[in-house]
Amino acid sequence: MKKTFNTSKFYYAFPIFILGYKDEKFSYNITTCSSSFSLGDMVVIGMFKGSNAVKQISKFKEFTINIPTKEQGFLMEKAGFLTKRDKLTLLSVPYELSSVIDAPLLEKCPVSMECRVEQIQEFGEYVNFTARIINRWCDETLLDTKGNFKSAIFSPIEYIGDEKRRVYRYLDDKNSDKLGTFIRSSKYD
Ligand SMILES: Cc1cc2nc3c(=O)[nH]c(=O)nc-3n(C[C@H](O)[C@H](O)[C@H](O)COP(=O)(O)O)c2cc1C
Repeated sequence: MKKTFNTSKFYYAFPIFILGYKDEKFSYNITTCSSSFSLGDMVVIGMFKGSNAVKQISKFKEFTINIPTKEQGFLMEKAGFLTKRDKLTLLSVPYELSSVIDAPLLEKCPVSMECRVEQIQEFGEYVNFTARIINRWCDETLLDTKGNFKSAIFSPIEYIGDEKRRVYRYLDDKNSDKLGTFIRSSKYD
């Protein structure tokens, strides 16, 4: 039997990423985020209004999404605990600048996307940026010989929990099934 439960936040497993963006004070900067969804070339990210990331992305209207695995856990946590600091320098983060948009691509994160903001919408204390994905990057070990993404071996970190306790959950390379698996194995049409 289900029960209602009260919580001010409920994250039902969202992949964590590190935003890279141009910064008027520190040239470039990074901030950890887990609020996003994507459909085709569109991605929407949600950020707390008081963050430096919101200020800078609202001004320059471009950002990168850099997806860490557990190996980049320290960088991911520090970029989410420090605020309004020169995080790329403080944490000695290697990055490259994209030739298309003006934002840093983090070398250590195996997957990155370049995004250009097309809409900004406020929702109370939060700001949603709707952006177009201009370019996608991934480590060559994650591409097969035809250039397709080897999703089964990529392990982003999921952020899950309620207001009381939030944890990291990890995907592994042992658990994945092809799209259509459940319908094919069902006795119903
Ligand atoms: C795992 C994790 C997930 C986070 N997700 C979000 C998020 O979705 N939106 C947000 O506004 N802040 C999120 N944060 C908090 C920001 O990273 C944090 O407030 C940061 O210090 C803001 O830095 P800035 O002010 O330099 O941009 C998250 C932090 C962590 C560690």
